[in-house]
Amino acid sequence: MPTPSALTTSALVILGASGDLARRMLLPSLYNLDADGLLPAGLSIVGVARSDMDADAWRQEVRELLQAREPIDETVWARFAERLDYCAGDVTKPEGAACLKGRVDGRRPLVIFFSLSPSLYTAACASLKAGGVITDSTRLVLEKPIGRDLETSRSINAAVAAVADESNVFRIDHYLGKETVQNLIALRFANSLFEPLWTSQTIDHVQITVAETQAVGDRWPYYDDYGAIRDMLQNHMLQLLCLVAMEPPSDLEPDAVRNEKVKVLRSLRPFDRASAQHDSVRGQYGPGMVEGEKASSYEAEVGRPSQTETFVALTAHVDNWRWAGVPFFLRTGKRMPERRTEIVIQFKPVPHSIFGGAAQGDLVANRLVIELQPDEDISLTVMNKRPGLGDVRLQSMPLSLSLKSLGEDGGRRRIAYERLLLDALRGDQTLFVRRDEIEAAWAFVDGVADAWTEAGMTPKPYPAGSWGPAGAFALIERSGRAWN
Ligand code: NDP
Ligand code: BG6
Repeated sequence: MPTPSALTTSALVILGASGDLARRMLLPSLYNLDADGLLPAGLSIVGVARSDMDADAWRQEVRELLQAREPIDETVWARFAERLDYCAGDVTKPEGAACLKGRVDGRRPLVIFFSLSPSLYTAACASLKAGGVITDSTRLVLEKPIGRDLETSRSINAAVAAVADESNVFRIDHYLGKETVQNLIALRFANSLFEPLWTSQTIDHVQITVAETQAVGDRWPYYDDYGAIRDMLQNHMLQLLCLVAMEPPSDLEPDAVRNEKVKVLRSLRPFDRASAQHDSVRGQYGPGMVEGEKASSYEAEVGRPSQTETFVALTAHVDNWRWAGVPFFLRTGKRMPERRTEIVIQFKPVPHSIFGGAAQGDLVANRLVIELQPDEDISLTVMNKRPGLGDVRLQSMPLSLSLKSLGEDGGRRRIAYERLLLDALRGDQTLFVRRDEIEAAWAFVDGVADAWTEAGMTPKPYPAGSWGPAGAFALIERSGRAWN
């Protein structure tokens, strides 16, 4: 963690301060950082939205939302409340920009967090630049989705590039702020054990699962236009894949890491009509039971028929020397039976077994499981002998590194945005997505979406509370493998 003295930012603006993301993630994260003494003295936090209220009313709103999460520490609150300011205005209009300029003038450098609908990014950038709020040193933090496809992503990126240098643009993928995701980098590059084994010589395949129990719910107006492939695969899942598959960067400098991730994205084998039919599955939840409760269908939430997928599984191939012949099985869905995010590295079996009899059948190949949610855990299964004097029998046991109890503050699980906000305040872009990276990810996803259209693939129904359509099992099983 950086020390507060390393921070020089004097104002953080949250555009969309009354929205869901700001209330659930950004403001609680900032409060937590303040509680830990990690925000610089004098940093002011300026909320912006069209809702008409003054700074006192906003402070009260923020206090209530924090209190609804956990008891408030009055000393921390007094310090935090002092930082909060509010500007009521439309950021796409000159009046909105003028109001904000009045609040942040003289405060430099400045970080502006776009917690707004991305459809407003272009107009907001232009208006804030014209109004003198965005200057050469202003950092812009942009939420996903940046575009709906490569073309729209390019257009937003171009509008942002017109007002800010890439070195000042921080594109968020909140998965990169998760502790275990960062731990993946440590696991791979701080241990001499794994890297020599991290190739097609020893790895049979990789699985990445991001399963959620929650429904799409009220977010359907956004979601129905995007679906699982654009909401989850284009960003979070491809980022996880990149961190597993990338070559060792020369150091942890932002561009060293991001250069390696871009190479992975550009090595992804494009989908065509035939591979889409063979290597991908779209699903949409129907009614069912989730965690013991009756759950309605996606279409019931939307209120009309929909062809949007709430589940996607696909086999990705990274066409380079390291990964030739190693499939990456990815799946993500809403309304799954449990919340589970994990990366599984399945090693190959031993090349020759010296064990006979029953022990021969006991042999299981090693498996490294990196669990991100609900618990943070890294576990490696290794074979060992069952204790006893009888015939040799083997068993597979996990060597487990539970990360839950290792936190610096007694295990409080940080919100991923805490790390990302702090990094944006420090100007460290390592955990943010570069323009060419996001565009390479869109190019891959566009290819999948186009192939689905060409192949006429519509989502297959699956009951809420199940692991997706039957095709998702067939996808992996026809190669002789199974989901973890
Ligand atoms: P909401 O719709 O809940 O909030 C939008 C906010 O923007 C509100 O505060 C709204 O307030 C404000 N706003 C809208 N138009 C203007 C305008 N012209 N000028 C100033 N303020 C305006 O959205 P979310 O918080 O859910 O999402 C924000 C961003 O975060 C989006 O990019 C979204 O894709 C992304 N995101 C959100 C996630 C989530 O869990 N919510 C998850 C991942 C990404 P008012 O109406 O008063 O102006
Ligand atoms: C968001 C998606 O980016 O990530 C949501 O828009 C999804 O649909 C969420 O629910 C999952 O994040 P997490 O951190 O809960 O796994």
